[in-house]
Amino acid sequence: MAAWLPATIETLLNRRSIRKFKDEAIDADTIATLEAVAQRAASSQFLNDWSAIRINNPALKAKIAEYGAQAYIADAPLLYMFIIDEHRNARIAQSKGIDPSSDEFGLKTSYRFTQAQNDAVLALHAMETAAFSLGLGCVILGSPLNNINGLIDLLNLPEYTYPVLGLAIGKPDQEPALKPRMPREMQFFENTYPADADGTLDALPAFDAEVHQYYDLRQADRPVDAFSDQIAKISRQDVSNKTLLDKAAAQGFTLDK
Ligand SMILES: Cc1cc2nc3c(=O)[nH]c(=O)nc-3n(C[C@H](O)[C@H](O)[C@H](O)COP(=O)(O)O)c2cc1C
Repeated sequence: MAAWLPATIETLLNRRSIRKFKDEAIDADTIATLEAVAQRAASSQFLNDWSAIRINNPALKAKIAEYGAQAYIADAPLLYMFIIDEHRNARIAQSKGIDPSSDEFGLKTSYRFTQAQNDAVLALHAMETAAFSLGLGCVILGSPLNNINGLIDLLNLPEYTYPVLGLAIGKPDQEPALKPRMPREMQFFENTYPADADGTLDALPAFDAEVHQYYDLRQADRPVDAFSDQIAKISRQDVSNKTLLDKAAAQGFTLDK
């Protein structure tokens, strides 16, 4: 790696999830900066088909923490839920004479859904990087999606919207170690996906050992499992109840199209 790195790259190389925050509010200027950065992210076909809901009502925060089964969500001084938002575009299209309930309105299809999801994630990640650059800490939150219907009700998410991820932000009140990443050769390939015989897993035992030395502050009494063991465990988890098509259909999306 280059000897001198710009501050942005230093920030990105030092990023880590922060799950404990000081009980200090984030000021309005900082919030405006974070939101401007998120809006500056790229947007496929410039559809701008995401929105983010700032959750500052403690009762709503507590409910989202309950859905995610992670108490620290309720303590986040600044909490966002990023959502796929074709509702705004449906209203705009309607004003141009397009009936969103008709087949003519294509912003409810699977292609558009994934396009909007990508945009939402890019915006969230830009905000995360901006927050870290300002010395704040963040954690991205998928856990509230354990109760998608609950979130939809709680946040009054209308037709053609769908929750994507949360982002909890605050002044860090912990200093977790950097979590290891796999050797670059395991994740970056040249021109073609390597054959299994090409030795892409040769470095796995060393990576397993490195990961097993990492302590997650959520369970600081024991090291985390080796990477292989984590993958084996998660690959066996039954997530067959976490279906998408039915819930997206209830929000007006036609993901079979
Ligand atoms: C899509 C996504 C969802 C995540 N959801 C959660 C979550 O619900 N709760 C949590 O504590 N961390 C969550 N994380 C953070 C990951 O656990 C974390 O990024 C990973 O363990 C690597 O650790 P690091 O961010 O400290 O490098 C999520 C990360 C991503 C990308």
